Amino acid sequence: MPTLTSPLDMRFRPVRLIRSLFMIVLILFVFLNLHVLMNFEPNNSDAYDRTLLYKLRHSNNLKAHVQTDRSQLQDLDGPENSSKVEVLILPNQYNQTFVSRHNIPEHNLTQIKLEIDRRNADQYVHNLQKYGLSLGPESVVIVVQVHDRANYLKILLDSLRKVKGIEKTLLIFSHDVFSEQLNSIVETIDFCPVMQIFFPVSAQLHPKEFPGEHPNDCPRNVKKDQALKIKCNNANHPDKYGHYREAKYCQTKHHWFWKLFHVFDQLTVMKNYTGLVLLLEEDYYVAPDVITILQMMNHLKKKDCKDCRMLTAGNYDKTQSYSINSGKVELGHWISSRHNMGMAFTRDLWKDIKKCTSVIL
Ligand SMILES: *[C@@H]1O[C@H](CO)[C@@H](O)[C@H](O)[C@H]1NC(C)=O
Ligand SMILES: *[C@@H]1O[C@H](CO)[C@@H](O)[C@H](O)[C@H]1NC(C)=O
Ligand SMILES: *[C@@H]1O[C@H](CO)[C@@H](O)[C@H](O)[C@H]1NC(C)=O
Ligand SMILES: *[C@@H]1O[C@H](CO)[C@@H](O)[C@H](O)[C@H]1NC(C)=O
Repeated sequence: MPTLTSPLDMRFRPVRLIRSLFMIVLILFVFLNLHVLMNFEPNNSDAYDRTLLYKLRHSNNLKAHVQTDRSQLQDLDGPENSSKVEVLILPNQYNQTFVSRHNIPEHNLTQIKLEIDRRNADQYVHNLQKYGLSLGPESVVIVVQVHDRANYLKILLDSLRKVKGIEKTLLIFSHDVFSEQLNSIVETIDFCPVMQIFFPVSAQLHPKEFPGEHPNDCPRNVKKDQALKIKCNNANHPDKYGHYREAKYCQTKHHWFWKLFHVFDQLTVMKNYTGLVLLLEEDYYVAPDVITILQMMNHLKKKDCKDCRMLTAGNYDKTQSYSINSGKVELGHWISSRHNMGMAFTRDLWKDIKKCTSVIL
């Protein structure tokens, strides 16, 4: 006689139960992961413009957001535009010679001032005999703000040397300290065209007055009524946090602004240039694909985000998930403390920044 299994028996069979549970957990796990993957957004997503994000996500041509190949850069402007040349100097056709004046005594500010003025007027570009210079809308010009940290600068140069396409850029160093040591480091560069510019209203040249420290400067933390009583300089104008000027930080800001003004509006070689300008600082270290990535981002911006004005090549996040994010760009509103690392923009944005001069300076 066959043994009948009662329904009760069946329900309580442990192997089946465990197997079913396992399947349910597995399916849930897969769905949960899919959900996380598809909805992943970097931290602080409230700072992002949701309508722009929506536009990007639901744009007709989703393929546009997956660019793995440099050759895809070509199809944006068509052959006529991408080959448009705004600055052209052929190798060996540059017959300006660099007048190297070493042994400028670093304590003689008169001589330093003369040398700075001379070099700013000359606008000499090193290495043109070797590389020439051909810039267009797709190019990236790199501007490095340099203070006085020679060791950091050397490390930055080591990283720039390895950047793909570096020989096609123009690398500009903007100094607020004139020093033989820094100059000779910059003069060792043999991998691309290089120019040095010098901030003329520097603390080095004006150690005892603005923008350096004046004996009658208000202490940073003094209260305004106290400041008015002791009649220190500019007592009427603490900053929006109630602090007074700290020469060191102020110089950084003034230098930043002057450098953009000089690069966009004063340098002859930049007069016709409409491409990207990438801003670096002496203590940065760049990845070898920084130019390629910026060009790809710029391409994407022209195609899908015409409202976007600035690209950034870095951020301050301490933890990076390269495996999840390496193929993505982030879209958001500009926040100084998040995005002032490797900022890149064109003359259009500079024109708008200039309109705010009275607020900035
Ligand atoms: C070239 O660029 C201009 C403006 O940047 C644009 O209006 C024009 O459509 C472009 N030409 C082609 C063929 O893509
Ligand atoms: C800028 O363009 C004008 C007109 O095409 C040209 O004459 C001039 O030489 C160009 N300037 C530079 C620095 O290439
Ligand atoms: C090159 O040098 C010659 C002779 O010194 C000068 O006449 C010419 O204008 C220079 N060319 C350029 C492009 O500076
Ligand atoms: C600095 O150099 C200038 C020009 O060479 C000279 O006239 C001046 O006496 C020098 N000043 C000092 C303090 O050495």
